Amino acid sequence: MPASANDEFKTTDLMTMTDPHPAATGPCSPESLAAAVAAGLDAVARAADLAELASVRTAHVDGRSAPLVLARRALGELPREDRAEAGRRLNEALATVRDAFTARLAELTAARDARVLVEERVDVTLPARRRRPGARHPIAVLTERVVDTFVAMGYEVAEGPEVEHDWFNFEALNMHPDHPARSEHDTLYVEPEGAGRVLRTHTSPVQVRALLSRPLPVYVVCPGRTFRNDTIDATHSPVFGQLEGLAVDEGITMADLRGTLEAFASALFGTNLATRLRPSFFPFTEPSAELDVQCFNCRGEAARQPCRVCSDEGWIELGGCGMVDPNVLRAAGVDASRYSGFAFGMGLERAAMIRHGVREIRDFVDGDIRFSLPFGIEG
Ligand code: DAH
Repeated sequence: MPASANDEFKTTDLMTMTDPHPAATGPCSPESLAAAVAAGLDAVARAADLAELASVRTAHVDGRSAPLVLARRALGELPREDRAEAGRRLNEALATVRDAFTARLAELTAARDARVLVEERVDVTLPARRRRPGARHPIAVLTERVVDTFVAMGYEVAEGPEVEHDWFNFEALNMHPDHPARSEHDTLYVEPEGAGRVLRTHTSPVQVRALLSRPLPVYVVCPGRTFRNDTIDATHSPVFGQLEGLAVDEGITMADLRGTLEAFASALFGTNLATRLRPSFFPFTEPSAELDVQCFNCRGEAARQPCRVCSDEGWIELGGCGMVDPNVLRAAGVDASRYSGFAFGMGLERAAMIRHGVREIRDFVDGDIRFSLPFGIEG
């Protein structure tokens, strides 16, 4: 019977053995146990890490085919008088291998812990990598604020395309091809040439779209981006926001316009700044007016102290307004003998500059987060 530690021992072998003292030659024999112990100790000593040690445990300590486990199973087959002695030897052998295993386990665990401490070291004194919360663009914030004011007065929000058809942008608004106001608009045309498409120069075309698509009466505000062929400087920008307003109903008068703008200006700038309407001209309104707001910087005291914000005017021009020209109503299919309306349009950057004391329109398009951040926290 070979005594190799890895040989599987079968109880049937015992039956066929001729040796009258199986305890002296079987798996429980001193030689077999010594060999099993030697193999176990050797394997334990060789285990280089915890994973290897785990397989040593199966192979030599408590796996089903570990020699010492097989030996324990063979114990019952021994002649009664040999069992006690063999059992003692077996326990000793097991204890030796187990002790070696436990000692190696402690060793390897300590080594692993020491390595992890070094490899996964975290410098808790490093400054945290902070992600700055972004900021909403001040024009977006202001637009929402203004729109909310009008929604509270019963208005709806209407939108139109930024690439607009010539007809909506000019024709329907009573600006015929030879109308001088067209050239003042410094229009950016969209290719192909002659297709009649432009980058909308104002939000007024949304008035026509709203009238064509909604049932009367119509009360809408239309915020959006508009474009002109302007070079950027402190007061000009080729892209800027406008907010258009339109009310078309029966019996609308200029008094309604005045009251609406008054309520709006108060909500936007506070109740202490005066507003005024100044006669003006726009092709799409008749009569037309400019809406002025008292200068936030000098509060109209420019006569006494020079003011660079309003150029000593005491007033800041905020936008245009007027009673919708019947030609516009007719172009949009509205019965001008029954309905009348008012409209207004204002620059959003301009309103933001007045509201926040910003001196350069350029800041709104530069996209510098340092400019936007203080506005971003506004609700
Ligand atoms: N669309 C005009 C512009 O961009 C502003 C304007 C003036 C709009 C008078 C209006 C209005 O609705 O009634 O200069």
